[in-house]
Amino acid sequence: MAQRETWASRVGFILAAVGSAVGLGNIWRFPYMTAEYGGAAFLVVYLIAAFGIGLPAMLAEFAIGRKAKKNVINAFEGIGYPAWQIIGLLGLVTGFWILSYYSVVGGWVIQYVIGTVQGAYFGNPEAYFGSISTGTSTIVFHAVFMALTVGIVALGVEDGIEAATKLMVPSILVILAGLAVWGSTLPGAMEGFEYFLNPNFDALMSNLDTIIPFAVGQAFFSLSLGMGVMITYASYLGKDDNLGMDGSLIVILNTSVGVLAGLVVFPLLYAQGVDPGSAGAGAVFISMATAFAELPGGTVIGLIFFLVVLVAALSSAISLLEVVVSYAVDNYAIGRLPATAALGLVIFLLGLPSAMSLDTFGLYDTVANSLLLPLGVTLIVTFVGWVFAGGAIEELRQGTDGLGSLGPAWLWHVRTVVLVAVVGTLALSFMEFL
Ligand code: TRP
Repeated sequence: MAQRETWASRVGFILAAVGSAVGLGNIWRFPYMTAEYGGAAFLVVYLIAAFGIGLPAMLAEFAIGRKAKKNVINAFEGIGYPAWQIIGLLGLVTGFWILSYYSVVGGWVIQYVIGTVQGAYFGNPEAYFGSISTGTSTIVFHAVFMALTVGIVALGVEDGIEAATKLMVPSILVILAGLAVWGSTLPGAMEGFEYFLNPNFDALMSNLDTIIPFAVGQAFFSLSLGMGVMITYASYLGKDDNLGMDGSLIVILNTSVGVLAGLVVFPLLYAQGVDPGSAGAGAVFISMATAFAELPGGTVIGLIFFLVVLVAALSSAISLLEVVVSYAVDNYAIGRLPATAALGLVIFLLGLPSAMSLDTFGLYDTVANSLLLPLGVTLIVTFVGWVFAGGAIEELRQGTDGLGSLGPAWLWHVRTVVLVAVVGTLALSFMEFL
């Protein structure tokens, strides 16, 4: 068997993981979830969830991946727990599932890039979303987005994913920061900041039962947890990386991008007098397009904005595809290129129903976020907390000067707080789903 690939550098790994995390979840989903679930109150719960639940869970995935140096399925066998491969199987299924509709949204974004250049949505942003979000052009650009994803992943871990995300992630950060500065100069910016950053604790307390599962679910989605992306990415790491430090950096950077996106989106919405509470999947697209159509310089800003969204979506899509490609090339006598192309085709086909109906699309998204991901995280956290346990601490210790009591503290946190939060989220989102 050919030698397994690795990252060329620690920075490369971190940027690839941030690239996976930073995506439509930050720029599209996060603002509209925040808008829908109470603005700053949601942000507060989200921040607690990302650092208190997401980060420890991410370290759990890292420990499995780096210890085993295998894909999501074989990793469990590799560290001596073959029965838990079921987690990997769920991960593969979830990867197919999420990428199938994620790529459809990626296709929408490409159509917004083109639409901005052509001024196609300037007259009627709402009608434009309607015309690009389902139907033939949706399918065509879903295919284009999938092809771009396949192109990068086919080049390999170092020459494809690492090289691409090294360019993509810094560009996203710099450009979003620039857009946020520009947004702060708009009339209405203050109202936008107020809604986004000034929590209404009464609203928070009375809606905790809906806010918590959505905030925790959003944290998992945004950090790419629950389906083995972080297991797979950590499997290409050397033993000298400090996983705790890397994980913290990844969560900080990912959260910053979400907050930056909010700082761009909310002032724009308020500048246009759009009510952020009237959100929904299409809302960010429609309202951003409305803003770009009307603001001076909107074409240029709009083009930059949608290009950033596109880059962010691509750097996430490649991680979803890599999970399944990694399994295929580890286990079958198939080259990376044919494996990537074949899997990309299957996922494209799976995405067709979402490209033809917004209801189906919404159902895919809900199933992923309310069932598949929380279930995946629950299983991973249970396994690492109660089964892998000491082995995981041992793995996190590699590349540090020893963790002291941090190791056991992390483990007990995972076993108790994280597990309860995750099971609670699973239960609440399941009830929401029914
Ligand atoms: N985190 C990405 C985003 O915010 C989406 C994503 C990529 C993802 N890989 C994932 C979500 C794995 C869940 C699991 O857009």
